Amino acid sequence: MADTMKMGQYAKVKGNIEDAIHMVTGPIPAASSLTKDQILVRVLTVALNPADYKLPESYVGSLLIRQPAIPGFDHCSRVVAAHPSVTTFKNQLVFGGFSRAPPNGTLAEYTVISASECAALPDDVDPEHGAAAATAGTTALHGGIGSWGLQFANAMGARVVTSCSGSGSAVDMCKELGADEVFDYRQTDVIAGLKSRIVSFGLVVDNAGNSSDLYDISPMILKPGGTFVQVGIGSNVDLGSNAMTVKRSLLASFPVGGCKYYFVNAKNSTESLEQIAQWMTEGKAKAVIDSKFTFAKVPQAFQKLRTGHAKGKIVMAHI
Ligand SMILES: NC(=O)c1ccc[n+]([C@@H]2O[C@H](COP(=O)([O-])OP(=O)(O)OC[C@H]3O[C@@H](n4cnc5c(N)ncnc54)[C@H](OP(=O)(O)O)[C@@H]3O)[C@@H](O)[C@H]2O)c1
Repeated sequence: MADTMKMGQYAKVKGNIEDAIHMVTGPIPAASSLTKDQILVRVLTVALNPADYKLPESYVGSLLIRQPAIPGFDHCSRVVAAHPSVTTFKNQLVFGGFSRAPPNGTLAEYTVISASECAALPDDVDPEHGAAAATAGTTALHGGIGSWGLQFANAMGARVVTSCSGSGSAVDMCKELGADEVFDYRQTDVIAGLKSRIVSFGLVVDNAGNSSDLYDISPMILKPGGTFVQVGIGSNVDLGSNAMTVKRSLLASFPVGGCKYYFVNAKNSTESLEQIAQWMTEGKAKAVIDSKFTFAKVPQAFQKLRTGHAKGKIVMAHI
């Protein structure tokens, strides 16, 4: 194994992260430096998440990341070394993602991650699909997000009503993934449409988070004891969005009509990833890939991500 690797690194983000990332060469983490539960992996595929740019570009988020930093939460990789405490993985393909913004993320040829944030990649699942299943998949499992949330709700037998822009084949895609009813938010007033429904919901999930409209009507459209889940955080992470989450959580301590509120805090765990792997193997859920880039095209990948309209996951591979 070589001593050095290529990695995408940024030191300080003023503006867009893609303008701050430079491909540099640095040392491969030493196997002898691994601590309890850690594995050293050779990264095959990275899947991007909005947090990959929202955190480093925000004042609050950037305070959480030691810099210079390597971006990237999600990966599909081959294990090349493991701390003796790790008995589960040996030289095999794994997928998963960091649960907190890492200083040394997955946009590198090698990275060090906790084994408990990974699961074995099933033989019949493509590495790109494994990477795409990590943070978005586990977030969906704990509340719902985009294409994964639709499929998991369907796999659990729920009746699903969702919204999308209606651009291209978006409505057909939502129906194919398990939505029973789809609102095109550019053509119809989704809020009015939801309010006029006779049957109320057990669960309302806000995946966009760019307005409080859905939250405001949730007491009217939820069944007694129903739950409002906040996943989307709008266009950036700032003090205002953090304060809003705290305020809603406090209000939920005194629920009106017995409705509950919770904010999903993405957490990758072997257990959640194994559940998703099982559904993928059984054909109950599949990764939706919007686009693929090589590491040389990092700026283009981030530009696509920040449109907020990718139809599925954006993945990157070393080539
Ligand atoms: N709380 C957590 O732990 C957690 C974890 C992961 C992500 N997130 C947050 O969740 C949000 C979604 O993340 P993502 O990974 O799905 O990526 P994303 O790039 O934010 O989502 C893209 C998708 O959102 C749809 N969309 C955009 N605006 C919409 C609207 N007003 N109504 C309905 N659909 C809309 C787009 O469909 P159209 O093109 O059809 O509009 C596209 O399919 C982001 O705010 C992200 O930061 C939170």
